[in-house]
Amino acid sequence: MKEKVVIYPGTFDPITNGHLSIISRALKVFDKMVIAILNNPQKVPLFSLKERTVMIRDVLKGQTKVEVDSFNGLLVDYVVKKKTNVVIRGLRALSDFEYEFQMALMNRKLNREVQSIFLMTDYKWFYTSSTIIKEAASLGGDVSGLVPAVVCRKLKEKYGYV
Ligand code: PNS
Repeated sequence: MKEKVVIYPGTFDPITNGHLSIISRALKVFDKMVIAILNNPQKVPLFSLKERTVMIRDVLKGQTKVEVDSFNGLLVDYVVKKKTNVVIRGLRALSDFEYEFQMALMNRKLNREVQSIFLMTDYKWFYTSSTIIKEAASLGGDVSGLVPAVVCRKLKEKYGYV
């Protein structure tokens, strides 16, 4: 039987434990996952594409079912290029819903073959996001437990807390 590949797109600036939870749960349903980091020249991320890629690869080393890649342009075109038709996203607090719904409907309009599926985030990560974690870290807050250790270290380096 053909293995079922799911695309997990995002900015991942940086990857959090919430993302990791979605990854491990999605792999209970799919055979393989491609983590697709958006390379958006219009946005200035805290971590470069290279840094985000290296951190994710580091955190997931030994995980043979995951490929870490990047994309630009339309997500649906990237999904087709990867020869699959499923995108997965995590859903947190209610505020995510409208944005995710809009994106899923736009992606569906652009390509009806591409299906968006959602996993409710674990309650532990309900109110965390890369953005709020960066804000806390930038002010010297302790974000260990919310991000993998390597990311925690990199955040401290970026914000000059080492
Ligand atoms: O982690 P994020 O920032 O919420 O991820 C957003 C992402 C990368 C999934 C979204 O911005 C995206 O798919 N961008 C690619 C451009 C695209 O396809 N746009 C049309 C559909 S909204």
